[in-house]
Amino acid sequence: DRNPDPRIVEVDLEAREAEKAYLEGTTTTVWAYNGTVPGPLIEANVGDTLIVHFKNSLPEETTIHWHGVRVPNEMDGVMAVQEPIAPGETFTYQFTLRDAGFYWFHPHVMEPEQIQKGLFGLIRVRGPNEPEADVEKIAVLGDVFLNKDGTFNEELDDDTIMMGREGNVVLVNGEVMPALDVQPGGLTRLRIVNVANGRFFNLALPGHTFRVIGTDGGLIPQPYDTERLLVSPGERYDVLLIADGEPGTELTLMNEAYERGHHTGLAEPMPLARVRIGEGPGLSGRTLPETGPAIERLPGGPAEATITFDEGYVDGKLTFTIDGKAFPDVPPIDVQEGSVHVYDLKNDAEMDHPFHLHGFFFQVLARDDVPVADEELANKDTVILPQRSTVRIVTRFDEPGMWMYHCHILEHTERGMMGEIHVE
Ligand code: C2O
Ligand code: CU
Ligand code: CU
Repeated sequence: DRNPDPRIVEVDLEAREAEKAYLEGTTTTVWAYNGTVPGPLIEANVGDTLIVHFKNSLPEETTIHWHGVRVPNEMDGVMAVQEPIAPGETFTYQFTLRDAGFYWFHPHVMEPEQIQKGLFGLIRVRGPNEPEADVEKIAVLGDVFLNKDGTFNEELDDDTIMMGREGNVVLVNGEVMPALDVQPGGLTRLRIVNVANGRFFNLALPGHTFRVIGTDGGLIPQPYDTERLLVSPGERYDVLLIADGEPGTELTLMNEAYERGHHTGLAEPMPLARVRIGEGPGLSGRTLPETGPAIERLPGGPAEATITFDEGYVDGKLTFTIDGKAFPDVPPIDVQEGSVHVYDLKNDAEMDHPFHLHGFFFQVLARDDVPVADEELANKDTVILPQRSTVRIVTRFDEPGMWMYHCHILEHTERGMMGEIHVE
């Protein structure tokens, strides 16, 4: 219906070791899909079927999870539904792309190590309602923690686990301070994803405003303007901006200060990328859209249950808990296929946790009992639970299976902050 001519998009994907020069004069041995960090950008249209012929050429087992893509349960790449793919083995992932949007993929075993080493790639799915733009760019926000010789620093202490690993080298599209070339006066569409283990990005382009037109699950009905765009690990944003300046001007995309907990947040703004205004045809006449395509609003209502996220020491070990338990001891939530549920996600910790749900989008209804503004109507798969606050969400569980939810600070996932939802 939405795509009269669905195609089959076939991709060969190999996870293997590769060399990358993050720092001048050094090489880092990365783990990379098809040898590049970020991995490939898979392009498709909504309704297309994606077939990924995957080969694991790493010395360790792995899987692929398609973050945000609504897939059949057995394609979700998590341990509960898939035997990890052993070194030298292959696996074919196949699913139909049901939603236009910008997604990413990454392993779902040993995530903190494997993602940090470079295993992530992108999927851009176009739909029938794409806004016009003169230039399209991608910004993959991340970081790595490197020793002077370029090798990965894999030390892990409680401080690292507490906030999630933040690298000492901050990257956009796998590079330090890359240039993003835009046209003067033209409309630039920027798709943003945060692939970092623990770092939050609070984006700003001084003198400019982002018009947010979409997020995790695609375009939103009510675009809005913001000067700061806070992006937690796992989240995506789709923004339009008009670069203002003479040809030859260079602007700096900044990461602004943000305190995400335990008073260890970013205190100083940090430059991320150079936005270069090149020669161009000038004003294209394209304007910022005031509205976006409608999406179905899920019914609201009071929360039927509260799920509480916290941190603490269990048997002397720093642990991140859901209702006081750590994975795999978090009791599964049982729901019926097709049913709609409202939950209060309560963060009792003194730090933000980005909540992520597999398999389904959810909509944010309220924060601390205050209904959210209309512009927040969006299909999300990852949302920040700010420290000491409650976020109310609603989801329709329309696909059977065993689905994970977890904090997307990967060191927290690893230390217990993950649970299962059984849809029958
Ligand atoms: Cu990107 Cu289970 O997550
Ligand atoms: Cu996911
Ligand atoms: Cu967390």
